[in-house]
Amino acid sequence: MLGPHLSDWLHLGIRWLHVIAGVVWIGTSFYFVWLNNHVRETPDQPPGSEAELWAVHGGAFYRVMKYQKPPTLPDKLHWFKWEAYTTWLSGFSLLVLIFYIDAPLFLIDPAKVEMTRWTAAAIGTATLVLGWIVYEAISRSALLDSPVWYGVVSLVLITGVAIGLSMVFTDRGAYIHVGALLGTLMAGNVFFIIIPAQRELVAAMEEGREPDVELGKHAGQRSLHNNYMTLPVLFIMISSHFPFTYGHERSWAVLGGLIVVGAAIRHWYNLRGQGHDNVWLMPAAALGMIVLALVTVPSSNRSVVDTETVAFQKGVDIVHARCTPCHSATPTQPGFPVAPKDIVFDTSDQMVNQAALIRAFAVDTEIMPLANVTSMTDEERAILEIWLDEHTNG
Ligand code: HEC
Repeated sequence: MLGPHLSDWLHLGIRWLHVIAGVVWIGTSFYFVWLNNHVRETPDQPPGSEAELWAVHGGAFYRVMKYQKPPTLPDKLHWFKWEAYTTWLSGFSLLVLIFYIDAPLFLIDPAKVEMTRWTAAAIGTATLVLGWIVYEAISRSALLDSPVWYGVVSLVLITGVAIGLSMVFTDRGAYIHVGALLGTLMAGNVFFIIIPAQRELVAAMEEGREPDVELGKHAGQRSLHNNYMTLPVLFIMISSHFPFTYGHERSWAVLGGLIVVGAAIRHWYNLRGQGHDNVWLMPAAALGMIVLALVTVPSSNRSVVDTETVAFQKGVDIVHARCTPCHSATPTQPGFPVAPKDIVFDTSDQMVNQAALIRAFAVDTEIMPLANVTSMTDEERAILEIWLDEHTNG
């Protein structure tokens, strides 16, 4: 298809769009939650309005009024939906471009389950569709009346999805699909619930009738759900820079823990917006992060081999055999015209200098070799660990 250079640029363009749209979406979402929490009744608010707020920003004063039912509708009413749709569409494009087209490298882990690209893509997209159906079902059930139970069930379900996916996909593929699922629920809420409810509100105003209150109630709940999902989704999207999260043996538990921490932080903000300063949520979230850091301390592989010392050349040979086919100025692995991420292990100096990376990606986790294309063994990882301890600072 496209040459590697052009497809890198396409990838960059879509990812840039994805980040921009996501920032705008989350920015407006946070702003409106904040706004709603801060508008107040005042003696001089205009007739018919419920509450108002004054703000100063960027060299001017702004006065915002909240109406449940304005006396008339203005000619120009602003809607906020394209930022959500653009985020989802660009995100799904990235999923296809990276994880489905290159599934044999990024999504399929033959050590877990052998499958074709098409099966992998089908499992991935089915997760998004089924996830939405299940979410719809629980969000229309009696469970919704109890926020605590609703939260617990959602957490169990999403962790279940993470466990299931981590059994069939690469670790990173599993994480990204949980993120994509949460993002799909958020965009689905906008598309299927929130925007139709707003249309109904406007139509009712124009026709001079009462709006359907049920629709409005659902929309309010779903936008609150979206609000709680933002921080967990953002974590999952940046997790690819942190191999110790998605590459951990029980990566799903790390994910579940970080979802709880993210939602708790959001909850603290929401409570504070409503005038309740909760004293224990933030310390609990910080403690949660510390506990996660402690329980994810990588365990040693050394017990796999019964030696304490390894000759310098031995580690170099392993990296040459298992990593250099791709990570070289002149790669020999078919399909890799250039060294991925410019990481090169041609000389032993390059290996020693990048020892910390080797440890993070091939010893503490098994993220590399990618899809274990070069068939690295557990024994080799153990030897590499001893080599790193003995001969490098990494
Ligand atoms: C089949 C080819 C292949 C092999 C073999 C391979 N890698 Fe990689 N490596 C890649 C690709 C592709 C990427 C870029 C991944 C991405 O875009 O997330 C990468 C990325 C990396 C990164 C950077 C990751 C990041 O997110 O910054 C490190 C470090 C790395 N590899 C180390 C190794 C080590 C150590 C080995 C040997 C144990 C190895 N690789 C074997 C293909 C390979």
